[in-house]
Amino acid sequence: MQTVISVPLPQNPYPVVLEAGGLGNIGAYLSQPERISAHLGSHQSGHKLGKENLGKKVLVVSNPTIWKHYGPTVVTSLAQAGFDVAHCILPAGERYKTLRSLEKIFDSALAHRLERSSTMIALGGGVVGDMTGFAAASWLRGIAVVQVPTTLLAMVDASIGGKTGVNHPQGKNLIGAFHQPRLVLIDPETLHTLPTREFRAGMAEVIKYGVIWDAELFEQLEAADQIDRHRAFTPALLLDMLRRSCQAKVDVVSQDEKESGLRAILNYGHTIGHAIESLTQYRTFNHGEGVGLGMIAVGDIAARLKLWPKDTAERQYQLIQKAGLPTQLPASFETAAVLEVLTTDKKVRAGQVRFILPTGLGQVKITDQVPTSEILGALRQMQAVAAD
Ligand code: NAD
Ligand code: GLY
Repeated sequence: MQTVISVPLPQNPYPVVLEAGGLGNIGAYLSQPERISAHLGSHQSGHKLGKENLGKKVLVVSNPTIWKHYGPTVVTSLAQAGFDVAHCILPAGERYKTLRSLEKIFDSALAHRLERSSTMIALGGGVVGDMTGFAAASWLRGIAVVQVPTTLLAMVDASIGGKTGVNHPQGKNLIGAFHQPRLVLIDPETLHTLPTREFRAGMAEVIKYGVIWDAELFEQLEAADQIDRHRAFTPALLLDMLRRSCQAKVDVVSQDEKESGLRAILNYGHTIGHAIESLTQYRTFNHGEGVGLGMIAVGDIAARLKLWPKDTAERQYQLIQKAGLPTQLPASFETAAVLEVLTTDKKVRAGQVRFILPTGLGQVKITDQVPTSEILGALRQMQAVAAD
């Protein structure tokens, strides 16, 4: 069964398709968009799919693990639909999200003679998605990209909204562009092979949507027996969680495509999370784990500032723990160093660090009025628990 969410951006509308087994239909969806648009309704026209918009040549970008599992299905489906398919396989991992990897994509694009009318397809997690999106944004000054996310995190977050880019040695995602995909195709079946730690990382972003936008999603996760691994979910609950999370992201992005205001709320937990990730040299925590820790910290800050009740902060803590995510900072972690990193974060405006603080379940506010003492207090609290 197909679930379709429309991203109603005036210049770049596109569908997010959720379908178990959908990977095998990618060729059909790209060549016969009516198989998607039938579900969108007539008011949502304007999606730029079909060979007249995507060209015949496609370059699929992936990494060795994902390619081994899903490359053949995708290539077969594309070839059957008449596409001329090439692929570019990059090494896996955040440390390869670099300009050097981008060059490899461009080399493949050149070898396959990708034209203005051609398309790149990102088959993988957020690393592959961000790099492929940026390559597509810059190749011949911009060609089409299709996102096929295979991690939970990429399904609910990275693949939607058009943020693309690579890291600079001095910081994450410093080089990039907004480049919306033509289609996001989510096949929940790919989560079967995703390592549990990666699944949990994605749960951090799902919980984020529960806190910032969709209180019912939060309560649904609280009510579930177990949420710390893929196999604990029924197909129906998994699909509903994906649908609600994607809808939350779409709602926000479609109101503020280029992050001039509202979209910043998607960074809930991220600013402190990034600082924790970088201060532990990206070796201790992955992105989602950093976000989980960041959410605990800002949840506590909001409670200290009496913006939301202490027991709601506790509910958030419990849910993050239930998702199997880390909730404590290492005893050796230097909490004061976070303050320094915060001031170099790219989200700093006029020297002020902006925080997204919860004010209720499903509601947040953006503020730069957070005393340093409360930031340190919240971080030390997380460490104090660790030292017990
Ligand atoms: P990732 O892309 O590194 O994938 C995690 C690991 O899972 C990799 O080793 C990958 O090979 C493996 N993997 C992926 N899918 C698999 C599958 N189905 N089966 C088996 N193994 C699989 O990590 P991620 O968490 O998906 O993405 C993190 C990246 O996303 C970061 O670089 C972050 O900056 C970026 N991001 C971007 C946005 C955005 O809006 N563009 C939002 C959030 C995060
Ligand atoms: N992940 C944050 C955003 O897309 O804006």
